[in-house]
Amino acid sequence: MAVRINPSILAADFANFERELGRIGTADSVHVDIMDNHFVPNLTFGMAMTERLQELSTIPLDLHLMIENPDRWAPGYAELGVHSVTFHAEATADPVALARRLRSIGARAGIALKPGTALAPVLEILHEFDQILVMTVEPGFGGQKFDASTMPKLAELRRAVSNSGLDLWLQVDGGITEETIIMAAESGADTFVAGSSVFRADDPAAQIEHLRAAALAHVHSNQ
Ligand code: DX5
Ligand code: ZN
Repeated sequence: MAVRINPSILAADFANFERELGRIGTADSVHVDIMDNHFVPNLTFGMAMTERLQELSTIPLDLHLMIENPDRWAPGYAELGVHSVTFHAEATADPVALARRLRSIGARAGIALKPGTALAPVLEILHEFDQILVMTVEPGFGGQKFDASTMPKLAELRRAVSNSGLDLWLQVDGGITEETIIMAAESGADTFVAGSSVFRADDPAAQIEHLRAAALAHVHSNQ
């Protein structure tokens, strides 16, 4: 039973990414939040920075695209050779075509759902994806409070995935701490994005192991 801890560099020092990557080398992947100031009211960076992060990182890149028109832009990110590319269900015109394109390029394909976005349409197309991201805050900013009202959706998704027999990773993102990770693990997540709780820790490597231990102790019994 595997769990994955993916620190989000949204909480890192943006002027020192090389050093910050060095602090999280024991994590499973580095979660990279791409924001365009349109899909969300915040702006991070784009292709050039992602390409450089891909060169510098010793662990895989897990991209979270919070951008409009991912149908147009996401394949270019996949072509950088990143491990996974997750786009938002609310932003895409054709999730199946985009997922197939990402997979054909060689990236894991992921779809993300905002807290208020219904799960039902995604349940019809689960087999097109390698991972599903259930947002546990409104996307756009780090340091927000975990929204426990998203847990029933995660649990329903876990049931559907278990019944399907598909090998899908279920990711949560937003407000993950040593406390909230327990609820997320019990509700069926196996991949945990944590920004503030890792990068604000004195010892990020120790915090990654604390989060990993807490998740492993509470991971859903159906996984
Ligand atoms: C929010 C981002 C998250 C963010 C999480 O829109 O998608 O990845 O970095 O940060 P924390 O863990 O601080 O809530
Ligand atoms: Zn994210």
